[in-house]
This record gives sequence, C-alpha cells and structure tokens, in this order.
Amino acid sequence: MMTKPRIVVIGSLNMDIVVETSRFPRVGETLTGEQVHFIPGGKGANQAVAAARLGGQTTMIGFVGDDMFGHSLIESLQQDAIHTSFVRKVKGKATGIASIILAESDNQIVVIPGANDHFSPEHLHELEAVIAEHDIVLVQLEIPLETAAAACEIGKKAGKTVILNPAPARPLPQSMLSCVDYITPNRLELATLTGLNTSGDGLQTAMEALLDMGPRCIVTTLGEEGSAYLRKGETLRKVPAFRVPVVDTTGAGDAYNGGLAYALGAGSELEEAVAFACKVSAIAVTKLGAQAGMPTSAELDFKGSPGYFLISCFFRIPDGPVNPTS
Ligand code: RIB
Repeated sequence: MMTKPRIVVIGSLNMDIVVETSRFPRVGETLTGEQVHFIPGGKGANQAVAAARLGGQTTMIGFVGDDMFGHSLIESLQQDAIHTSFVRKVKGKATGIASIILAESDNQIVVIPGANDHFSPEHLHELEAVIAEHDIVLVQLEIPLETAAAACEIGKKAGKTVILNPAPARPLPQSMLSCVDYITPNRLELATLTGLNTSGDGLQTAMEALLDMGPRCIVTTLGEEGSAYLRKGETLRKVPAFRVPVVDTTGAGDAYNGGLAYALGAGSELEEAVAFACKVSAIAVTKLGAQAGMPTSAELDFKGSPGYFLISCFFRIPDGPVNPTS
C-alpha cells in the first residue's frame, strides 16, 4: 500500500457511557457495577478513527450537540488528525449517547441519537464539492436514512468508491443500494436486508439476492467463520478469522470497515483488503472502548511492534478462530 487514501466518513458521533459489571442485570433488578468510562464512539466517528490511525487522510461529516460531549468528541477526532470542520454543532440538541453495558464477555447497547437525527440531506448537498475531494465515501445507518442515501448518491455521482456499512440494520431502497460499491453486513444485517435465512447454505443465496439489489460487491462478516465476499459473475470466497483474546467487542465492525476503506483506498485487491480488515478488527477487540481500541498502522506491522507477540501467539489457531465482527 503506497498511497495515502483520502476517506470521507459520513455518519454518527456518540459519547459511549460504558459500564463494566460482572453480569447483565435481570429485568427490574438494580446491580452494583465495577467501573464507568466515557469513551468517544458512534459508528461514523469510530470508522473515521480506524481509517485515520491506519494512515488515511480522513474527514468526518456529522452532527453533535453544542454541549460538553460534542466538544470533547470533536477534540478527540482532532487528536487523530481527522478533519472536523464539517462536524456541525447543533444548538439546542444533545450530542448522541450510547449506554453500553459490558459483562460476560459481551455487551448490550442502547443509543439515543440526539443531534445525529438532525443530520439532513440538505447539509450534505452543501458539501458535495468536499466529498468529491476524497477517494472513498464511507457511510453507516446511524443517521437518518434519507441522509445516508444522499451520501451514497453523492459519492456515486462524483465517481468515488462508496462503502456502506448497513448498521444498525434496516431494509434499504434499491435506489440507494445501486449507488453502493461495497456493502458490509454481518449475518443478521444480511437477513434484514434480504428477508432471507442466512444460516448454512442460505448465506450464499442471501448474498446473491443482495447483489441483485444493486451493490457491486457484498462483504459479509461471519464471526468464527471469518468473512465472505461475492462479486457479480464470481463465486463466493471466504477469508479466515483471527483468534485473539477478547476484551471488548464494541466497535469491532467499525474497525473492520475503517480497515477495509483504508486498504481499498490504498489500492489493495479485495481479498487483501478483506484480510487486512479482519486483522484490524481482531486487534481492536483486544482493548477496551470503541475508538480507544482502534489500532495504528504500527500495531499492524506485526514484526517489531508491541502487538507482534500477542497476535503471533493467537494467530490462526486451527481449533476454531474467533472473528469478533459478527
Ligand atoms: O459500533 C459501536 C458503536 O455503536 C458504539 O461506539 C456506540 O456509540 C454505537 O453507536
């Protein structure tokens, strides 16, 4: 990967309020937890941080409230050299919040979108020239659907590579999907998008059905099975997962998408880009916090980096790899 890709992320910014506890509370139960952390998050901002730490020249477009969390989210992106001039502070609206419980090696998340819900397509249309200065347009679904659709259309019209991470999942119009080059659902999101069973042999049928809805390529994350990708006229191909000691899976999918965007923008072939994305998300889950866990390019350069020993110990162990991006 020789060039420095220019990536624009159009999506959400949240403050993640992360509570660590030994187990999930039962309905109606009050539990005493262990620790609370305030960690920058939001699928859009997480993907921007992932791409920037890997070396992408990254711009974030999104909305926060004109409040303490909004300011701190912008500052945090700036620390990763992300261009934030187009993150708008909305007066009178609260910054998006995600309430995250971490327990039993898993998480439960409730998102209050706040300012993210006020991100309008009109705002994006004002920024068409800015978007056109980038190689890759990376979009998720934590903003209004019409805005995410406009992002894909603007990217396509400008001749850019459009990557859509369809999370959180919802059915999408064909007009939007036909503007997408790469769509990156997990198995559940693929089921929501197609209305089909995605287990077992159903996976290929569902990926073919999604391909027929417009995107140029489907990349599905499959948990323990790694990732699968499918392009028109080609057979389904799989890339194996990595096995790592998991600390926090929050943002694993975001790490994957940031990694995929970076690698494709830098000119990698798809198979190489998918393997790279798997590696980025594997390292991300070894640390606490979505943005806090995103690896730098130095951590990925296993030899001579602090991450080398850790990853080499757990790298592709044959008895059941774990890919945290399911
Ligand atoms: O994908 C993880 C993210 O989802 C968290 O950072 C949280 O903000 C929610 O949006």
